[in-house]
Amino acid sequence: MSLGAVVLAAGQGVRMKSARPKVLHAVAGRPMIAWVLGALRDAGADRIVVVVGHGAEAVRDALPPDVEVALQERQLGTGDATRVGLAALDPACDTVLVACGDTPLVSPELLRRLVEEHRSEPRAATIVTAVVPDAGAYGRVVRDAGGRVAEVVEVRHATPEQLAIGEYNTGLFAFDRAALAAALEGLERHGPDGEVYLPDALPRLDGPVGALVAPDPEETSGVNDRVDLAACEAAVQRRLRAELMRGGVTMPAPGAVYLDAGVRVGADTVLLPGTHLRGDTAIGGGCVIGPDAVVVDSRIGEGCEVVSAHLVQAELAEGCRAGPFAYLRPGTRLERGARAGTYVELKNSRLGPGAKVPHLSYVGDADVGEDTNIGAGNITANYDGFRKHRTHIGARVRTGSDCVFVAPVRVGDDAMTGAGSIITDDVPEGALGIARARQSVIEGFTARAAARAREAAERARGGDTR
Ligand code: UD1
Ligand code: MG
Repeated sequence: MSLGAVVLAAGQGVRMKSARPKVLHAVAGRPMIAWVLGALRDAGADRIVVVVGHGAEAVRDALPPDVEVALQERQLGTGDATRVGLAALDPACDTVLVACGDTPLVSPELLRRLVEEHRSEPRAATIVTAVVPDAGAYGRVVRDAGGRVAEVVEVRHATPEQLAIGEYNTGLFAFDRAALAAALEGLERHGPDGEVYLPDALPRLDGPVGALVAPDPEETSGVNDRVDLAACEAAVQRRLRAELMRGGVTMPAPGAVYLDAGVRVGADTVLLPGTHLRGDTAIGGGCVIGPDAVVVDSRIGEGCEVVSAHLVQAELAEGCRAGPFAYLRPGTRLERGARAGTYVELKNSRLGPGAKVPHLSYVGDADVGEDTNIGAGNITANYDGFRKHRTHIGARVRTGSDCVFVAPVRVGDDAMTGAGSIITDDVPEGALGIARARQSVIEGFTARAAARAREAAERARGGDTR
C-alpha cells in the first residue's frame, strides 16, 4: 500500500493580480506550495506529483528535487489537472491524496488522519470538508438524507439554499486510485473553456465516499487573493511565534515580531517589537533583539544585543552588540564581545574579540584585531575604482577620529593613528601613523578681520549719501 499525492498548481490565480504564479507567493518566507509539499511529506506520501501549467518554468524551478512534475498544457480545471497528475504518478500508489497548491496551512496531522480514515474501511474517496458560518467562494458540500456527501456545488452553480450551507470543500481528498481514474473520464464541461471540476468526480465514483470534517477550518483555508494571503501569513506568524514562546523566548508584543519558517531562537532571548528574523537565521539564548531589528540569513551567539540594526549574512559570536543604527552586510563576523555601534556599516570584515567600531564608520574588507578601538568616523577605502583591497588592523590598536585607511594597507599591533589621517602606508607595530597637514596659528586674526569688515561697511554707507 503505497501513498501518492497529486498537488494542483497549474492555475494562474487570476484573483492574485500578479505576474508571479500564485503558488510561488510566499508565506513566512516560503512559497505556498513548499508548505503543502512539506505537510504531504510529513504525512507519509511516498511519491508526489506537482501539476504545473501557468508559469510552469518558474514553479518547476522552485520545487525540491524529490517531487515529480506533470505539465497541464491548458488550464481546463481541477478535474483535468488531477487527470494529468494521476497519469504521472507511480502506478504502485494505490491511495492518492489530492491537494491544492494554494492551501499552505494544511497540517501533516490532518493529512495523516485523512489517510487513516480513508483506509479504515473500503472507500472510493474521502473528502476533507470544513464548516464555517459563511463559506464565501468555496464549493458547498451537499449531503443526502442519510448524511452522506452527495456532491460539491461551486458557488456559480449554487441555488440560494445551497449557498446557505456552511460546509465547504477544502480541496483535500484521498482517493482509491482506480476509482478516481475511472470517474475522471467524461466529466461534465463547464463554461466557455469547457473546464472540468474535480469535485464532480465524487458522485461518479464506484464505491462509498466518506467525509472528514477538519477540526480547525483555518488550516484548510485556500489563498485566492492577497487578502487571503495576508490572512494565511497572519495565521502562520501566530503559529511560529507561539512555538518560539513555548520554547522559552519572550515577546512582549508578539504581533510586532515577524518570523520566517525555520528561524531558531534560544531560550531567554527577548524579541522586541519591530524584529524581523528572516531566512536561515539562528539566534542564541539570552539575547535582546530589537526594537527594530532586521536579521537575515545570520547567526547570533548567546547574550548578544541587536538594537535598531539591519544584518544580512552576518555572524556574531557571544556577547556582541550591534546598533543602534548599524548595518552589518554579508561576510561580517564579530568575535566574542565585539561591538558595532551607531551609524556603522560593516562588510566582509572581521572584528576580533572585544574590538569596537563605536561611531559613524565604514569598515569593509578589513580584519580588525582583538581589543582594537576604531575612532569615530573612520573609513576603509577598500575600492580603487577597479578592485577591492583589504585593510589589516592589528590587536589593541587605537585609531584617531576621522581616519581613512587606503587599502591595501596594514596597521601593526599596539599602533595608533592620528585623528584626521589618511593612512596610505603601513604603520608598524607600536608606532603612531599620522598623515595630515601641520596646523598654523595666526595670532590676532579675529580682531583684524572684524576691523576690516567694519571699515568696508562704513565705506558702503558713505557711498550711499554721496
Ligand atoms: C476549488 C474547488 C472548490 C474548493 C476550493 C478550495 C473546484 C472546481 N473547486 O476552488 O470546490 O472549495 O478549491 O480551496 O475544484 N488548478 C490547476 N489547473 C486548473 C485549475 C486549477 O492546477 O486548470 C489548481 C490551482 O493552481 C489551485 C487549485 O487547482 O492550486 C485550485 O484552483 P482554484 O482556481 O484556486 O480553485 P478554487 O476556486 O479555489
Ligand atoms: Mg483556490
